[in-house]
Amino acid sequence: MSLPLPDASQPDASQPAARPPADPTLPWDPADPDRPAPPEQPPVDLADRVALVTGASSGIGRAIALELARHGAHVCVNYHAETDEADDVVAEIRALGRKALAFGADVSRPDQVAAMFAATVTTLGRLDILVNNAGVEKRAAFTEISEADWDLVLGINLKGAFLCAQGAARRMISQGGGGRIINVSSVHEELPFPGLAPYAASKGGLRMLCRTAALELAPHGITMVNVGPGAIATPINRQTLADPARIEALDRQVPVGRVGDPDEVARLVAWLASDKGSYVTATTFFIDGGLMHQATNL
Ligand code: BGC
Repeated sequence: MSLPLPDASQPDASQPAARPPADPTLPWDPADPDRPAPPEQPPVDLADRVALVTGASSGIGRAIALELARHGAHVCVNYHAETDEADDVVAEIRALGRKALAFGADVSRPDQVAAMFAATVTTLGRLDILVNNAGVEKRAAFTEISEADWDLVLGINLKGAFLCAQGAARRMISQGGGGRIINVSSVHEELPFPGLAPYAASKGGLRMLCRTAALELAPHGITMVNVGPGAIATPINRQTLADPARIEALDRQVPVGRVGDPDEVARLVAWLASDKGSYVTATTFFIDGGLMHQATNL
């Protein structure tokens, strides 16, 4: 009597299920006990780093200050007029067990910027991370833009970023070098923004400020990088966010189908501020849900 030959095309139920073939390009294979899962990546670690975040009483700046603190940083919370909101951010940071202070300063004023750096170093000991986030926008047709609005927007968004970056770089060099300068720019450092020419001009300027200063600061171990958000739900968009028709139109413009959250920007900034961002400089990371590259079928 002859036994039936096993059918090679059918799985043999008496044998353990075959493992999927290993990917030989990976140093690990979750299905192979000899090559188990990769070691867990250490989390973003900012323990005992000192950060200064401008415009940190609300919006993206607030989210960044809190995110840096969650990863261990002590933070100077700069604000302009919103004293109570800044104090709330400081209280939240202290509740995380970090040191914090609120400092009211107009970043376009050199004397106030100098006082802010002095207070940060006196209170928190040093400076490792600057986040240039303070920003304003003013809407007007190009032919109607006033000189006062031009000066206000360029003063805060570009001159303020320059003054703070210069102050931070000087301090970081005097500490022996090393540090991170992160500018919250915008998709409008590249995309035109009809009705907001001063804003677009300030962000375009921030683009080349970053590129150029980064090259000069690289020998000191200081990186400088722009983060370019798209449409994020913050007070700068208050009018749009309050208008359901405008928000729907905006959502439709964004390939991922929604406005972004300040925390999504803050997580990128924390990564860049940490040792993980050590080789990133003189460039821009856009974080916009695809907005800059949205295209419709023609
Ligand atoms: C501006 C927002 C705008 C977004 C996308 C940001 O830089 O502050 O007002 O919605 O860019 O256009």
